[in-house]
Amino acid sequence: YVIGIDLGTSAVKVLLMNQNGEVCKEISKSYPLIHEKSGYSEQDPAEWVKKTTEALAELVKDFDGHVEDIEGISFSGQMHGLVLLDKNYQVLRRAILWNDTRTTQQCKEIYDVIGEEKLLKTTKNPALEGFTLPKLLWVKENEKDIYERASVFMLPKDYLRYCMTGQIHTEYSDAAGTLLLNVHEKVWSKEICDLLDIDISLCPPLVHSYECVGTITSSFAESTGLSKSTKVYAGGADNACGAIGAGILSEGKTLCSIGTSGVILSYEENSDRDFQGKVHYFNHGKENAYYTMGVTLSAGHSLEWFREVFAKQEDFHTLLSGIEHVPIGSNGIIFTPYLVGERTPYADSVIRASFIGMDTSHRKKDFVRAVLEGITMSLNESIQIFRENGKNIDTIVSIGGGAKNETWLQMQADIFNAAIVKLSSEQGPAVGAAMLAAVGAGWFASLNECADVFIKHSKVIEPIKENVDKYRELFAIYQQVYAKTKELN
Ligand code: XUL
Repeated sequence: YVIGIDLGTSAVKVLLMNQNGEVCKEISKSYPLIHEKSGYSEQDPAEWVKKTTEALAELVKDFDGHVEDIEGISFSGQMHGLVLLDKNYQVLRRAILWNDTRTTQQCKEIYDVIGEEKLLKTTKNPALEGFTLPKLLWVKENEKDIYERASVFMLPKDYLRYCMTGQIHTEYSDAAGTLLLNVHEKVWSKEICDLLDIDISLCPPLVHSYECVGTITSSFAESTGLSKSTKVYAGGADNACGAIGAGILSEGKTLCSIGTSGVILSYEENSDRDFQGKVHYFNHGKENAYYTMGVTLSAGHSLEWFREVFAKQEDFHTLLSGIEHVPIGSNGIIFTPYLVGERTPYADSVIRASFIGMDTSHRKKDFVRAVLEGITMSLNESIQIFRENGKNIDTIVSIGGGAKNETWLQMQADIFNAAIVKLSSEQGPAVGAAMLAAVGAGWFASLNECADVFIKHSKVIEPIKENVDKYRELFAIYQQVYAKTKELN
């Protein structure tokens, strides 16, 4: 057996899997987000460790085999969060998370000092509020005492792994989201550190995602019931692990994942494509590979927001029932999903959402369909960037909330003009983490071989030509809404 731990933004999920790729047990424990001021989003790292320990202890308690048969553990983690430790590896302040937007000023400083060209050349990514480097600069400028006491920074899942093993590391897929990694050479960028006056010794040692970094400590074994011989593998960023768990492991494979945010993620064999920073470009959890990714910040969140405000008494199933009878184009309503700003293609934290085209004949179902169409068209803008830059996207694996509804799946096929693959069982990034442990433990020679056993397709939804044509026209109108509503901000 292996365990995949997905340290998410709202909860930690632990997943026990066997050698056939079957999920034997799944436990999830949630923890709060702390929003002390507008734009702030923080978490207490001690909560991550506490809830993971509880989840693992429960999992072990219910496990009826020998605990020594749980051979390995690996991780998937929310990206970009800054955890700062002092010289005794004690946490210095709460973690500042990926969805914290206090660092607009620091992003500007990064461009002023480094220049966009050099930044893109080295890190393959633009300076965005969510990434780690602007957060480090924010602490340096606003909490000088804390910054001076810091001996190392870590990403969220790396801190959790440190508490389980006593070993300090990060791995390339999460390091890529810091804006401090030279993603081509896979080393911390001394040049960026020097230019911004950051001591490079703050950056933790780098390893590969599948690498064994040790075994769990006696005290962690005691508090969970796990065997002290359980091997711990480095793991990856949640999007890298989501890609692994959906089999996005070779050129031509693309993923659509709709959760709170939505991503379109595409496999890259190497780091030499140029998307001019329009999509994120990160190291994969697969050795020496990469992925590119466009992000719609408010995907599932838009639907949840609509339900909360206009249909609180309905569950998602009820809310979505009947949308198949609303024609394409939602009887004239268009929704743009910019409730919390947007990343791709606009990198605009100020823009806000809109409904346009309402008339007295409209009913709730028209709005619900418009929300789904708006989310999907926003994701299509990422696909458009990929295609304009020469990528061939004809098949997309769809996971998350967007894969739970038949009408939405057909809508994805028609808007993306691509065949949509649905997986037979889908546990998200935790499966990717378990696969890293399975490969690390030597069950398979590679992640691709592991995917052949662990990942099964349940069906393929083909685009319908007539619908594709209608959506193409609608998308052209949708794309004009951003510029017009931007003027109103
Ligand atoms: C990716 C990003 C989010 C987090 C969520 O750039 O910010 O998808 O990884 O955990």
